[in-house]
Amino acid sequence: MNRDMNFKNQAKQPVISSICCIGAGYVGGPTMAVMAKKCPHIKVTVVDTNSKRIDEWNSDDFDKLPVYEPGLKEIVCETRGRNLFFSTDIDSAICNAEMIFISVNTPTKDYGLGRGMAADLKYIELCARRIAQVSNGDKIIVEKSTLPVRTAESLKTILESEDARHTFKILSNPEFLAEGTAVNDLLEPDRVLIGGEQDEQGQAAVNALVGIYLNWIPSEKIITTRIWSSELSKLTANAFLAQRISSVNAISALCEKTGADVDEVAKAIGMDSRIGHKFLKSSVGFGGSCFQKDILNLVYLCRHFNLPEVADYWESVIKINDYQRKRFAKQIIEDLFNTVSGKKIAFLGWAFKKDTNDTRESAAIYVAYELLQDRAEIHVYDPKVSAQQIIGDMKNMLQQNGNQSFDEISQLIHVYNDPCEALDKAHAIAVLTEWDEFKTLDWEKIYRSMYKPAFIFDGRNILDATMLRKTGFVIKAVGKQGI
Ligand code: UDX
Ligand code: ADP
Repeated sequence: MNRDMNFKNQAKQPVISSICCIGAGYVGGPTMAVMAKKCPHIKVTVVDTNSKRIDEWNSDDFDKLPVYEPGLKEIVCETRGRNLFFSTDIDSAICNAEMIFISVNTPTKDYGLGRGMAADLKYIELCARRIAQVSNGDKIIVEKSTLPVRTAESLKTILESEDARHTFKILSNPEFLAEGTAVNDLLEPDRVLIGGEQDEQGQAAVNALVGIYLNWIPSEKIITTRIWSSELSKLTANAFLAQRISSVNAISALCEKTGADVDEVAKAIGMDSRIGHKFLKSSVGFGGSCFQKDILNLVYLCRHFNLPEVADYWESVIKINDYQRKRFAKQIIEDLFNTVSGKKIAFLGWAFKKDTNDTRESAAIYVAYELLQDRAEIHVYDPKVSAQQIIGDMKNMLQQNGNQSFDEISQLIHVYNDPCEALDKAHAIAVLTEWDEFKTLDWEKIYRSMYKPAFIFDGRNILDATMLRKTGFVIKAVGKQGI
């Protein structure tokens, strides 16, 4: 089937019957599953160069999907094979689709110009070139990945210079889903943002995408803007959210010195309706694939446009986050009599937040790195993260920091499927992820199995400190006096 969509012949809005999404990751997979569920009349094909990932999406065992999200497997079960397909045949999927979502990864550049700051757009560029090479008609291209402002312009340049025969209309449709609540965020988003070119064809493309979302989103929640506003809004939204966490984490350090309690302060300020209560939970530091990357991107843009004061302002959000993670690790070492060498430190949680198996930029990795420098033994339990992932994360972290002696250090990391085994004979417990199940562990039994004094460092403020102190633990929590 060849989808020949000709913009010049479209009256108002191209009709979309087939969608392709390039990139079957944390964004592409769940987003397309929900789109397929809500638009049974549209064929949705998700493609990826990673055949293992595609096989996992096609697995008969729905517990083996590559992305864990509450509610996701039920949707994939309902739609896969009906109008949702996962494939490695990228070229056919591009040809057969009128609308192509680009949902590939855009990590921070780790080489050359902009190293450590700018987004690495090589995967995006590869997609654009592929689309231009194999397209058989006009296409609407939707940027789903978070991208620096004006990427749409680069995309257009590549597409049009590779293929002058067809018209490509670029839309920016940033994803605001948060991992762990992705399905709900996609089913009932606060808003859907669509940026498009201002000419008639650009607006027709915008309307085509609006038409898809109208299948389940009320029209008042769909905002259309110029393309650059949409691109910048995504970076700004993540920067604001991360800034709130760094703000409350900065206050947590002051609380520990003064005797104030950070949760009480957060509650008190959050009840001011101008401030609001969300994203004020003090923690060992934010993680995830977006916050740090997007802020670095924003900082890079500001420097590029010669706005050093603005760049410094946003960079401080990251600096406080680094400080918070290091502060937490340092506290563990200091409290364990200034050395953790040869001591068993049990980690509860490795994911960057609960209800996801994603570990990108997780605070756990940074805290483990600091403790390993002091030759601690790290014993990890996470209900959703595999041992392979944990070891791989540490290996990357050590390599990035120029530490090549991974084989030696890997002897110091142990991963368990049972929390009690991870905690047995530990010198200290560090809570790195706020999984609900940690609250109801058999803490009396755990206390008996540990070296004394039995320390708990609650990096998420989820445990009942009063009860645990009565049991005998020495408990330290972020933003509470005593840490
Ligand atoms: C974020 C944005 O929320 C989402 O809109 C965007 O599309 C992608 O980036 P995500 O990274 O999945 O989503 O998770 P989020 O819930 O925002 O949490 C990010 C990090 O901040 C986690 O490590 C979390 O534990 C931490 N966090 C969050 C806090 O430490 N305190 C809070 O109050 C909230
Ligand atoms: P995100 O959180 O943004 O979804 P992920 O890393 O989870 O990021 O997913 C991005 C996916 O994009 C990966 O599965 C990767 O293999 C895929 N990908 C990257 N480049 C290409 C490409 N040129 N063609 C197809 N898939 C790609």
